[in-house]
Amino acid sequence: MIGRKLQERFEIVRSIGHGGMGTVYEARSLSGQERVAIKWMHARPFAAGDPDLLRFVQEARIVGALESPHVPRLIELAQDPDVQVPYQVMELLAGEDLGALLDRVGALRPDVALRIAAQACKGLAVAHAAGVVHRDVKPQNLFLARKEEGGLLVKVLDFGVAKIRRAPAGAPKGLTAPSSSMTDSGQVVGTPLYMAPEQLEGAKHVDARSDVYSMGVTLYALLAGKPPHADAKSLLELLNRLVSGPPPPLVDAAPWVPPAIRTVVERAMAASKEARYRDAGALLEALEPLLPEGADLTEEMLVPVDEATKGEALARQGQALDAGGGGAAAGLHTPEERRRSPGRGVAVAVLIMAVVVGLCWVLLRR
Ligand SMILES: Nc1ncnc2c1ncn2[C@@H]1O[C@H](COP(=O)(O)OP(=O)(O)O)[C@@H](O)[C@H]1O
Ligand SMILES: [Mg+2]
Repeated sequence: MIGRKLQERFEIVRSIGHGGMGTVYEARSLSGQERVAIKWMHARPFAAGDPDLLRFVQEARIVGALESPHVPRLIELAQDPDVQVPYQVMELLAGEDLGALLDRVGALRPDVALRIAAQACKGLAVAHAAGVVHRDVKPQNLFLARKEEGGLLVKVLDFGVAKIRRAPAGAPKGLTAPSSSMTDSGQVVGTPLYMAPEQLEGAKHVDARSDVYSMGVTLYALLAGKPPHADAKSLLELLNRLVSGPPPPLVDAAPWVPPAIRTVVERAMAASKEARYRDAGALLEALEPLLPEGADLTEEMLVPVDEATKGEALARQGQALDAGGGGAAAGLHTPEERRRSPGRGVAVAVLIMAVVVGLCWVLLRR
């Protein structure tokens, strides 16, 4: 692809990102020297009416209709007559996605994680107000773009599996639900680590509150350095854990996070949709009082949470344990959470295995 000229208008310069749907390239406009991003679908033969093709075109319609500094600007949806496949021309963002940031930095300072989440919610809130559910909110789809005037702006990327649920009064023009469903209502779309439980049950249960859940998991990951269940060894194990109980409490993964922030994350990630914030706008309203200095971001803020903060929190947790005696990991978990603690489960499983192996050994020797 590198060096390829599209319709004598753009020349592909380099690859800048991959995802489920395709590859994003940096390209140069051949008329001026403008740089753009070009999203190109993974090559394969496409039949007319191919659901991926329809989604790709729908993504362009959605991104084109949503007006927010937190959603990338779509310049055009074009088609190269040579390949018969459409491609999206977008504003070129400089920076990195939050997946790359998490790999590079790990757990962020709580106030910085909140700023990022608040900006992402601003973009998502515009989508929700237009009746659009993103369905794939995760760090890799949130981009920290450098602004020309300095500072960083979070952009919500990848509306490739988004669903238009309804066109509410006042929705941007052009966003009407497709006449036929692009997703079989039993099909699961999204990324399991960040997916709401109802989304795992199929597309028809999904609404804005499913994005709120994924945003909660994303915030959890920014605070703790990784999402809950990141250590699951297989998809089966992950699914098993997701359906069998609440996620490991944030207080265990990141004890330095203030309780007021924890409360918001827990509500966003509530298993039942009814208990969550109703949409990204409502989650934003809950985050704002925790950000008295606003949600502006700068490059200097992208540093790991400092060891002193971590140490103090661990010391406080230690004191709580001492004060409460052995059973008092107590103040930290509900009895229900303790019963479902994965560590306990593993210990019990290992114990049972040891007994079974021991028995077999004894029986075989007889
Ligand atoms: N406009 C853009 N400018 C710069 N990088 C981008 C842009 N859009 C996407 N990317 C990068 O490409 C990656 C894949 O893009 P995305 O839209 O998520 O595609 P997919 O649907 O294939 O997952 C993103 O995670 C991001 O790092
Ligand atoms: Mg993506």
